[in-house]
Amino acid sequence: MSWPAGEAAFVTGAASGIGLGIARALVANGAKVALADIDRARLDEVARELTEKGGAVTTVVLDVSDAEQWAAAADRAEEALGPISILCNNAGVNGGGMLDQTPLKVWRWIQRINVEGQFIGISTFLPRMKSRGGRGHILNTASMAGLLPIPGVGAYTASKFASVGLSMVLRAELAQTELAVSLLCPGAVATRISATSEEGQAKVLGRDSDVESAEQIGAMLAQGADPDHVGEQVVEAMQNKEFLIVTHRDYLPLVENLHVEIQRAFADFDGRHGADPTAQAMAQAISAGAHPVSS
Ligand code: NAI
Repeated sequence: MSWPAGEAAFVTGAASGIGLGIARALVANGAKVALADIDRARLDEVARELTEKGGAVTTVVLDVSDAEQWAAAADRAEEALGPISILCNNAGVNGGGMLDQTPLKVWRWIQRINVEGQFIGISTFLPRMKSRGGRGHILNTASMAGLLPIPGVGAYTASKFASVGLSMVLRAELAQTELAVSLLCPGAVATRISATSEEGQAKVLGRDSDVESAEQIGAMLAQGADPDHVGEQVVEAMQNKEFLIVTHRDYLPLVENLHVEIQRAFADFDGRHGADPTAQAMAQAISAGAHPVSS
């Protein structure tokens, strides 16, 4: 079997949905997998399932938003499986609502899990991967909400745009290395995200879970893509070192509209500030993959 057979992967949010789909696909392709999640009970079930299928897996209980937990989690995974060469920063939550109805506590909870969690994951594993050398891969799960503003989920959209920016910079910074980056931007996928997120959000706000509203969103998502198919697509894309992974064509016209708006703003701009050598130098440096200020 070819890559990723024999490699060790660390997958966050692996107890459910897309993370579980990625873990299953990695195991099917011969990789060892550290299943990391905040949900211990589901992790144990998933580990049993994958072990029965002959997979080499280990579980790591980890809250990705807690910087204090990451180094120990990485050590535990590497003691069990060997050096991690594949990091899938996949755990994420949704919540809030319209921006003027989103409590600050919920905004911060979402940013800490969806963005800071990915940043800390990279800070933990990238130095290890760099110092060991050889092929490695980092996957960040963003969302279609990272390419398109989605009304009603402003906190989530902001976090996923941040994940897209983070991933694009990481790709540029690793361009000259054997470390590849992929960015997953799914549309609707049939997972537990509405239930998981509502439970988490209720805890943050110290109120009861709104089970009915979570079930309504859950019923809509149940029509979405199969998370196992998304997992297979992710592993195939990583094998081919593809950067951007999308799951639904339906959003293309909306993404195009956004890009047309950006292009139109440049086309309509009257150049009133005149030629700017600094801007020219910075644009040149960025296109050459260099740091625009230090170059
Ligand atoms: P899910 O809720 O089925 O799975 C997410 C897993 O992350 C759960 O097992 C949960 O326990 C875990 N998790 C939540 N907070 C955590 C934390 N602080 N630390 C560690 N683990 C934590 O949801 P799904 O849909 O599989 O979500 C995975 C990723 O896919 C997320 O980043 C989500 O934003 C993204 N996504 C999902 C879409 C969908 O339609 N389901 C669409 C676009 C993106």
